[in-house]
Amino acid sequence: SANANKAGRTRNIVEKMEESGKNCVIFYGSQTGTAEDYASRLAKEGKSRFGLETMVADLEEYDFDNLDTFPNDKVAMFVLATYGEGEPTDNAVEFYEFLTGEDVAFSEGSDPALENLNYVAFGLGNNTYEHYNSMVRNVDKALTKLGAHRIGDAGEGDDGAGTMEEDFLAWKDPMWAALASKMGLEEREAVYEPIFGIVDREGLTPESAEVYLGELNKMQLEGTNKGPFNAHNPYIAPISESRELFSAKDRNCLHLDIDVSGSNLSYQTGDHIAVWPTNPGAEVDRFLDLLELADKRNHVISVKALEPTAKVPFPTPTTYDAIVRYHLEICAPVSRQFVSTLAAFAPSEEIKAEMTRLGNDKDYFHEKTGPHYYNIARFLSAVSKGEKWTKIPFSAIIEGITKLQPRYYSISSSSIVQPKKISITAVVESQTIPGRGDPFRGVATNYLFALKQKQNGDENPTPFGQTYEITGPRNKYDGIHVPVHVRHSNFKLPSDPAKPIIMIGPGTGVAPFRGFIQERAQQAKNGVNVGRTILFFGCRKSTEDFMYQSEWEEYKEALGDKFEMVTAFSREGPKKVYVQHRLKERAKEVNELLLQKASFYVCGDAANMAREVNTVLVQLIAEGRGVTEQKAEEVVKMMRSTNQYQEDVWS
Ligand code: FAD
Ligand code: 2AM
Repeated sequence: SANANKAGRTRNIVEKMEESGKNCVIFYGSQTGTAEDYASRLAKEGKSRFGLETMVADLEEYDFDNLDTFPNDKVAMFVLATYGEGEPTDNAVEFYEFLTGEDVAFSEGSDPALENLNYVAFGLGNNTYEHYNSMVRNVDKALTKLGAHRIGDAGEGDDGAGTMEEDFLAWKDPMWAALASKMGLEEREAVYEPIFGIVDREGLTPESAEVYLGELNKMQLEGTNKGPFNAHNPYIAPISESRELFSAKDRNCLHLDIDVSGSNLSYQTGDHIAVWPTNPGAEVDRFLDLLELADKRNHVISVKALEPTAKVPFPTPTTYDAIVRYHLEICAPVSRQFVSTLAAFAPSEEIKAEMTRLGNDKDYFHEKTGPHYYNIARFLSAVSKGEKWTKIPFSAIIEGITKLQPRYYSISSSSIVQPKKISITAVVESQTIPGRGDPFRGVATNYLFALKQKQNGDENPTPFGQTYEITGPRNKYDGIHVPVHVRHSNFKLPSDPAKPIIMIGPGTGVAPFRGFIQERAQQAKNGVNVGRTILFFGCRKSTEDFMYQSEWEEYKEALGDKFEMVTAFSREGPKKVYVQHRLKERAKEVNELLLQKASFYVCGDAANMAREVNTVLVQLIAEGRGVTEQKAEEVVKMMRSTNQYQEDVWS
């Protein structure tokens, strides 16, 4: 039917719930997996504590014009992340546009349209961004306006303050109480019921053709998938070149060129590329070992959803090894809620008691985990003092651990200069941990680092003793490949190249600006009139982390006086010098350029830098134009809303 989604399933949520016997749907709008994760947790908790018949739903997979037929004795939950500049996540765009549109038209045409709809709302946001949690706020407003009834408060989690998990946990208990009273639910002793069944596939071996071994795109490797490549269908791309950008011995910054010429992938200068990482071998081993699955790691299994609305988050048949290595975020911090769930499967009563306490007592949990950068296996092992955890059903692992997420990078090349070669500029994440021999290492950047080492025939192809199955279990990723897709962004050069631009990009924040400047240099070479192009760049020392140092000289040759680079080396003098200090020194010129409608761009650290740059801009506008700070703030807000001021920031 016209109402079916791509898997042939209905797009009518009311019908779907009816036919699968559900009375609670949890919709998620998720970009990095956290909202999706919270949605599954609510589904599980609703079921085990209150006997609700829950289902999780991707907003993208349903229509909403029949929400007015949503039965009054059921409930809809919305778990909504806000992305970037107050935007909906990719999978929530249609839902958001529908609900907040001028004339929302529902199937029945009754008024108020959503009088029967009972809903619950939680938002995931970051207070360092201008439009904090605007998704949940706007959706909540729109639903209320349409006559729907919210149960409990609309919760808001704050990633900026680092309290997302605790905000969620603090919100959900009063919400459950309100929901229970509204729906007349009785709380019961929580019982764990697996969502997935694990079936041994004795007849199959990892060599069998139909077995998935973590290839993110098996069909592509077999030559039967020609795209389109996107978030649901990543492209396994060769890395054509990789090199180190820092001179410092103790820190690394990667430059990678990803070759997408074999695909339909395209990008525009300023877009993002998503990289799908692989977990490091040592952590895969630690995880399998703790669960006593190491001996069975290459057993072929099928994972089956035990209920019609659940989805297995990876293709099967597969192996334990492949699931853990390629599909689960096993290196991430442990959530307190998952600790509570796992208490039931502790190896002893004593450990169970400790887990229960850790799960229930927020302060105790943070005191115990705070400084350690534990991942799940390190955490469990610390709690059990090395004793193995053999009672955890594998379904609980699949349910409780987030899917391995792609990491985004600001593309650092220009699409007019290299349309089929996407550059990445990434600092390798590493953190020394007091009292622990090996540092904490970020998943994606260390994976890419290993690829770079291998590609360049470095003596140490598996840095830090980490091994990656980088050639793929069946040697199908021959050469150096990485699964990617492109995400379009609004961070764009002015359409008229003659317009001046001011760019603020310290550290890896310089990434998209390499693309911008590469593009303008090319345009200048082609005889195009290019406007003033100023880059404020900051790093620690000119001799350590000054990335692309010689390249800037080349762009200078092409652009002449049009291009200027203003540097702030923070650790060369007695006092810290940052990009915003330099910006202030250039107040007069910056003001003049802004009055000529120069575009103003900021990229990099969202937590401090971007905010401080905003503050300095307000100050220099106030002083330069002789207006109050309040007035200058309005000017800056206006610059943002007209896209004269654009940010590409992350934390
Ligand atoms: P992860 O393994 O994801 O770890 C990241 C951080 O999470 C750690 O540093 C730590 O603080 C925390 N963490 C993870 N596990 C634990 C644990 N067990 N315990 C405690 N804390 C933990 N980066 C760039 O270098 N260049 C770019 O151009 C760039 N552009 C970006 C653009 C966008 C739109 C976004 C959203 C991000 C961008 N980033 C960029 C950041 C990038 O996406 C990654 O977040 C970064 O590279 C780290 O990834 P990772 O997998 O190596 O680290
Ligand atoms: P620091 O590490 O010496 O403090 C790239 O990381 C550059 O950004 C470094 O020179 C770093 O300086 C600097 N930096 C750190 N905090 C900043 C902030 N709040 N605003 C601007 N730059 C900052």
